[in-house]
Amino acid sequence: MKVLLCFAAVVAVAFAAACDVENCKIEDECVCTSRSSPLPLEDTPQFVMLTFDDAVTRYIYDTYYQTLLLPRTNPDNKTIGATFFVPHEYSDYEAVNQLYNAGFEIGTHSITKDLASYWEKASEDTLVQEFKGQKEIIAKFANIPEEHIKGVRTPHFQLAGNKTFTAYVKAGCNYDSSWTSLPKDKLFPYTLDHVSTQECLIGECPTVSVPKFWVAPINDLVGENGINCNTIYGCQKNGTAEEIEKWLLSELEKSYKNRAPMKLLVNSVWLSDEQNLKGFEGFLDAVGEKEDHFLVSVREVIEWMKNPVPVTQYTSLLGNVPTTCDPITCVLDKQHETRYMRSCVPCPRIYPWLNNPTGEVY
Ligand SMILES: *[C@@H]1O[C@H](CO)[C@@H](O)[C@H](O)[C@H]1NC(C)=O
Ligand SMILES: *[C@@H]1O[C@H](CO)[C@@H](O)[C@H](O)[C@H]1NC(C)=O
Ligand SMILES: *[C@@H]1O[C@H](CO)[C@@H](O)[C@H](O)[C@H]1NC(C)=O
Repeated sequence: MKVLLCFAAVVAVAFAAACDVENCKIEDECVCTSRSSPLPLEDTPQFVMLTFDDAVTRYIYDTYYQTLLLPRTNPDNKTIGATFFVPHEYSDYEAVNQLYNAGFEIGTHSITKDLASYWEKASEDTLVQEFKGQKEIIAKFANIPEEHIKGVRTPHFQLAGNKTFTAYVKAGCNYDSSWTSLPKDKLFPYTLDHVSTQECLIGECPTVSVPKFWVAPINDLVGENGINCNTIYGCQKNGTAEEIEKWLLSELEKSYKNRAPMKLLVNSVWLSDEQNLKGFEGFLDAVGEKEDHFLVSVREVIEWMKNPVPVTQYTSLLGNVPTTCDPITCVLDKQHETRYMRSCVPCPRIYPWLNNPTGEVY
């Protein structure tokens, strides 16, 4: 027991020395792993990040995204923010373009969205093809500037140590939204200049230094029977709309204690339950009533970390500059299967995939 305690202490000291305010300053875009806001609590906005990583289909856009998100505003009277980590298969790139034009953040997910073991074993090169390839697909077929796609989420949150993060950088991303943490941690976003002290719950976490690369932690929620859960669906919370709303608000109250940004991972299968949908709407309404709460994208929280202004001066980022879309439905071959892909630009020759994100190589 004594030996274990000593070991823990040594590790803690080594990590503390690795990152402290003396060698990591926000002026240099460096932030240590921390539960503390850069501002006094009463000046800190309470952010609630809404994130989605399902294929963006027409049905999901019309049924949930358009009705739930578009009509809402924050206390600065601007439309709320949200981040969509868009996977390739079954996504409708006309709908992705509409999300972008409505001001929401578009991030990259992956092309294959394969099983967890795939992400654990994939080479760095494969990971680059997944993340960068999907950026190229979104940029081309949803007609979005590729340099506006900065955030990334690895499927199943399956980190694979250093290579996941070196692949992110090679893919031109500047923040991760896949690293989960215990509900009690309530961490703020930080950079990977120095070794992270965040728990490593899924897969292997990096120890390599990645300067100016941000981690926006997923602080887990507490769901049914006290389980820790990263997606709302995974929380298995069942109940009436009122109970769902109350549960989400009680989880938010826990974040409010240190003002750690709350990140919600919202699945459309969860929203397809009427009580969940109503409960979620009630939650968004209740958050909208709070003067110091903002529903935002992940990018907006990171921008605030770089330049933390008091809540009274906070305004959300300006929206995206809309781009055009000439929608067309492409009927495409995917290894002898047919995929219908809605595109903003003329159709490719075959269904875009790994090694062939433009779909031009036949
Ligand atoms: C937002 O709009 C409301 C109602 O029109 C107004 O009372 C309030 O001052 C506005 N807030 C800001 C920050 O512009
Ligand atoms: C990750 O990178 C760090 C720094 O280069 C290195 O010390 C460590 O051994 C690497 N981890 C693995 C598993 O390769
Ligand atoms: C809640 O519902 C989900 C499916 O909707 C089910 O898998 C889960 O077992 C239920 N949990 C409880 C505690 O009833």
